[in-house]
Amino acid sequence: MRTHYCGEIDSSLVDQEIELCGWSHRRRDHGGVIFIDLRDRTGLAQVVFDPDYDAAFQAADRSRGEYVLRVMGRVRRRPEGTINPGMATGEVEVLATSLEVLSAAETPPFQVDDDDINEEHRLKYRYLDLRRPQMQSNMITRAKASSYLRRYLDDLGFLEVETPILTRATPEGARDYLVPSRTHPGSFFAMPQSPQLFKQLLMMGGMDRYYQVARCFRDEDLRADRQPEFTQLDIEASFVDEQEIMGVSEVMIRGLFESVLDQKLPDPFPRITYAEAMERYGSDKPDLRIALELVEIADLMAGVEFKVFAGPAKDPEGRVAVLRVPGGAALSRKQIDEYTEFVGLYGARGLAYIKVNAWGTDGSDLQSPILKFLPDEVVAEVMKRSGAVTGDLLFFGADTTRVVSEALGALRLRVGRDLNLVESGWRPLWVVDFPMFEAAGERWDSLHHPFTAAALGEGEKISDNPGRCLSRAYDMVLNGEEVGGGSIRIHDRAQQLEVFDLLGISPEQAESKFGFFVEALKYGCPPHGGIAFGLDRLVMLMCGAHSIRDVMAFPKTQRANCSLTSAPSAVDDKQLRELGIRIRAKA
Ligand code: AMO
Ligand code: AMP
Repeated sequence: MRTHYCGEIDSSLVDQEIELCGWSHRRRDHGGVIFIDLRDRTGLAQVVFDPDYDAAFQAADRSRGEYVLRVMGRVRRRPEGTINPGMATGEVEVLATSLEVLSAAETPPFQVDDDDINEEHRLKYRYLDLRRPQMQSNMITRAKASSYLRRYLDDLGFLEVETPILTRATPEGARDYLVPSRTHPGSFFAMPQSPQLFKQLLMMGGMDRYYQVARCFRDEDLRADRQPEFTQLDIEASFVDEQEIMGVSEVMIRGLFESVLDQKLPDPFPRITYAEAMERYGSDKPDLRIALELVEIADLMAGVEFKVFAGPAKDPEGRVAVLRVPGGAALSRKQIDEYTEFVGLYGARGLAYIKVNAWGTDGSDLQSPILKFLPDEVVAEVMKRSGAVTGDLLFFGADTTRVVSEALGALRLRVGRDLNLVESGWRPLWVVDFPMFEAAGERWDSLHHPFTAAALGEGEKISDNPGRCLSRAYDMVLNGEEVGGGSIRIHDRAQQLEVFDLLGISPEQAESKFGFFVEALKYGCPPHGGIAFGLDRLVMLMCGAHSIRDVMAFPKTQRANCSLTSAPSAVDDKQLRELGIRIRAKA
């Protein structure tokens, strides 16, 4: 129906007869001449309707915003002074000789060129929202990214294999989405939280190298970077160690940014241990674009009379740390109170501070409610260790290690953003040497998932000291987002059962939940490992979007529903009866 796309029209086509299709983006009536900016996926073309071509002119006069049009006309140079350098096609316009209205449109609920539309509204009319140039560009970037990733893995001999959506629970730590079975009344399928078990079974099945652009389903609390259904680039390979998986992943992500965005990522990505990440950044996904760091001062505080600090300093589970805020002495009382409230969200019971009004050989002027509790030499050492200079402010956290790391880690990000301390550019890194477990009362919880192998020396066993045991897991972090995570897996049946046991999964539970998997481990399992990337998160970063919803065609709202289709919804009694389900009355 067309000879060209709107965005392709340029001066090389002057005097040519062309045909374009698209939506009427804007229409301007200049007394006697009508201008329509015609829009398609590639951009905008200015079309001029002159009364000399009466039928076209009349049709243009009748058309409105978002009408779908087919235009025939001649490309011409715009008159001097009307050239629009802000528009890719701004040197030329199309003089229409005929116009066909392919579809009329009612006045849309919002303007496609409006950038300030309520998100609920955007999602309800997603098909209109998708017409916006920003969304078009995001979807194009997403398609280019997945195409690049597939090609990269295809070329390395990875096989794309699909795994079931109707399956059993896969443990990734969230709630399952369940699907009732009609043929087995009272029984349910679970949707996969990830293809984890299947990809490991594929390795046992001799597939050697696998990948999948896999939809995953997790019923968890939503945030800007989490959706109930999302896409992983899921990868697994046999006879590899962590260096190989991390190497292949790193080259892939560097190539992706180079190919799609023409941006260079560092080579190699820095690697830091989980322990170091928590100590310096209070987070296992540090945003390295912010140069601020947490500094340990427990050793200095163990002897002071200020109990708030001395208590956690002496407690092996405790932590006392300081965060230096450059230029922070200018913060008002109100701002400090806001930050105190903010760290309260992470369980901190206060936020002690020292304002450094002056510090140096010319004399010092420190301002703080806690100075009276701290000996001068301790204060001097804190100043030295944190690198504080005149004009700074020091924030202190004293509590359990977890509370201090989480609170100061979050404060680091917040202050970094508030004070414009976020550098531009790409700061990827690997976080390695995760603990295998975290304590959960009497038993242990996996930090990653129960199939992750432990990093054991010759003759060591996991049960020797589960709390100190490190795993063979790795996370890729980019600008403070966890974009991917994986591990080398357990391929020894006895070790898998031992881990289940430590996790408090009884042999009976292991049998009923993962019996098929444990059995498969009996029949020859290659050493294997892999990784999964959050495709939505990667593309979000690549597009500079603030939410993964902006890089998904039809995402769910914050309340995990679809406002376009009104899903989830009630179903017929007949359907429920077939499924053997009765809805309980609300209490
Ligand atoms: P994990 O649970 O770390 O690992 O998930 C891998 C990556 O998927 C992304 N991600 C999400 N993205 C959007 N919304 C969500 N709700 C969401 N949850 C996770 C993140 C994350 O890094 N089976 C293992 C991988 C493996 O061991 O190979 C797994 O699923 O970017
Ligand atoms: P208080 O002695 O409770 O008045 O506290 C003195 C200062 O220490 C105040 O600025 C509090 O915000 C701060 N503070 C109290 N508890 C903590 C804590 N656990 N970590 C850091 N600062 C704290």
